[in-house]
Amino acid sequence: MYCTQKVTDDIIWVGGSDRRLALFENLFPLPDGVSYNAYLIQDSKTALMDTADAAITRQFLENVEHALDGRELDYLIVNHMEPDHCAVIGEIVRRWPQAKLVGNAKTFQLIGQFFDFPLDDKCIQVKEGDTLDLGHHLLTFMMAPMVHWPEVMMTYDATDKILFCADAFGTFGAFHGSVFADEVDFQNRYADEARRYYANIVGKYGSQVQSVLKKAAKLDIAMLCPLHGPIWRQDIAWFLKKYDLWSRYEPEEQGVMIAYGSMYGNTSNMAEVLANLLAQKGVHALRVYDISKTDTSYLIADAFRYSNLVLAAPTYNNGIYLPMETLLHDMAALNLQNRRYSLLGNGSWAPISANKMNEHLSAMKGMQQVGEPLQIRSSLKPEQLPQLEALAQAIVDSLQ
Ligand code: FEO
Repeated sequence: MYCTQKVTDDIIWVGGSDRRLALFENLFPLPDGVSYNAYLIQDSKTALMDTADAAITRQFLENVEHALDGRELDYLIVNHMEPDHCAVIGEIVRRWPQAKLVGNAKTFQLIGQFFDFPLDDKCIQVKEGDTLDLGHHLLTFMMAPMVHWPEVMMTYDATDKILFCADAFGTFGAFHGSVFADEVDFQNRYADEARRYYANIVGKYGSQVQSVLKKAAKLDIAMLCPLHGPIWRQDIAWFLKKYDLWSRYEPEEQGVMIAYGSMYGNTSNMAEVLANLLAQKGVHALRVYDISKTDTSYLIADAFRYSNLVLAAPTYNNGIYLPMETLLHDMAALNLQNRRYSLLGNGSWAPISANKMNEHLSAMKGMQQVGEPLQIRSSLKPEQLPQLEALAQAIVDSLQ
């Protein structure tokens, strides 16, 4: 059975939710699923904006059939070729063989790589600023390379002032009924997942996101229609501001994420004592994570959120405890910058983890160490409390 929603009088959401997928890209946990959005514009010409993931093929095709209401499909506009959005292109081409595919040069290169159907006379190749007139709606194409693949483009509908913004402004999380952000308590249901989605999926490409934000600033935008998660038609400035901060690698708030790895509880004890000291000194924007039990994507999200990071880990195989090494590697891969960091190390016979963590962090751009690292042997001793106290005070001072 079809399951569509009207975005405007003649634009219909034809996407769907997936609550069965455990890991997005087979990497990132999806505790509340994910949605794949697609939109059908009913005008003198009909245009479908993107397809969907293979997992929701049946729902998506029923939705498109219903939204077309017996009409032919004239255009399939391909804003993004990652398979969570392009998987059903082959079936669309089979069902509506006369439909023209609209994309840029890189789009068609990727279509050729992913699919085997002949492109021949099907392609309308567009570049920055090209337009497509559907009758009432005038679409303009805006290239958005590396947000989050090289072929990504966005489509601006000047008639209704809608930006079909591909992966940008998306979020993890399936729909709970309405597809509109202003009807779903976005701040409580989705905001943390929007950050986790941005930081892990698009986070590496801050400068490219900045380029797109500059282009978007010249548009009159009444609605953002992303490929994942709710549609924005109110308070768009809130999300634009978040994207500006995240893509400049500036923290959202002055606060501390403590991420510790601990084999037998001694490093975690040191981290908990530090958290306790910070709280008593009035730091309440504070999150503590056991990295062995927390998927790295959540740690990356809070690393993008907070100004200060405290990393605590044992020495392991003459290096860093592996989950911490993974986190540090991911932070570097995602270009995290401009954070203050403090270090707690442990080791029973050759403690070097604090130094090793510092090698990773000091190589990242704009990172500033706060306080003296505390490197313990096996367990925290009462005589080391003043050092931890001094470290806590240094962190508090840095937050002012
Ligand atoms: Fe939602 Fe880059 O795909």
